[in-house]
Amino acid sequence: MFNAPTSLKTALVTGANRGIGRAIAQRLAAQGFHVLVAARDAEKSAEVVRTIEAAGGSAEALALDVASTASIQQAAKALSARYTKLDVLVNNAGIFLGYSDSIMSAQQADIDQSIQVNAFGPLHLTQALFPLLKAAGGARVVNVSSAVGSISEMVNPASIYGATEGAPYRLSKTLLNGVTGLLAKALRDDGIKVNAMCPGWTRTDMGGADAPNTPEQAALVALRLATLPADGPTGGFFNESGVVQW
Ligand SMILES: NC(=O)c1ccc[n+]([C@@H]2O[C@H](COP(=O)([O-])OP(=O)(O)OC[C@H]3O[C@@H](n4cnc5c(N)ncnc54)[C@H](OP(=O)(O)O)[C@@H]3O)[C@@H](O)[C@H]2O)c1
Repeated sequence: MFNAPTSLKTALVTGANRGIGRAIAQRLAAQGFHVLVAARDAEKSAEVVRTIEAAGGSAEALALDVASTASIQQAAKALSARYTKLDVLVNNAGIFLGYSDSIMSAQQADIDQSIQVNAFGPLHLTQALFPLLKAAGGARVVNVSSAVGSISEMVNPASIYGATEGAPYRLSKTLLNGVTGLLAKALRDDGIKVNAMCPGWTRTDMGGADAPNTPEQAALVALRLATLPADGPTGGFFNESGVVQW
């Protein structure tokens, strides 16, 4: 058991041990949230917690594998025992499999695993945390998707992603966009806003060293959606410039 700082709004970020998730966790903490730094390896989140605390923020580590129903249930149970509400959920954890595969060459195992982590993970976690999110009375859910999951881009012969394959990944993000729309619909009456975001091509282990965007830039998009006002959008898809086509 630990003492939850109940005076602070609480945010949970998945895959927060590195990359964009780490930057989002740090940004939310800097903004005054108590941040649950969720990662498969709790040791790795402990290091992020230390950096947040060293900067004067409030955070704690949470062990969470979004591909495992048991892990999701365990985390939800632990959180329900200690918290009365969850104000923000950022579904950031993701994997990129089948980098060079088109939809014709993609391996079924890569498709299955990508969908499990990138789409069902956010769905199952949001379902499991629903009582806490509802209790916040105005919670925000942010799904870290990608513009490469946009069907508009897939069917556009002039798309800037024309040379991008990665079919298992792209398909999983399309499904995550669908999950976002349906969650927004289902949770609207509970005052919970659910939006998807594209961080842009970002310098992380996934994005590589040549990517133009920093994780901190991506974190600002997440922050905007995590702190939307009551009249803000739900069921939308955004990047740092505005609306992304589905
Ligand atoms: N970087 C880009 O250019 C870019 C562009 C568009 C969208 N995105 C999206 O942004 C998000 C973050 O990407 P990133 O660039 O920061 O990638 P990254 O550096 O590869 O980090 C991925 C994170 O997800 C975690 N993760 C993977 N599988 C998990 C699981 N089953 N349960 C819990 N955590 C898991 C990883 O944890 P471990 O350390 O345990 O592996 C890691 O913390 C992803 O959803 C990605 O699709 C990234």
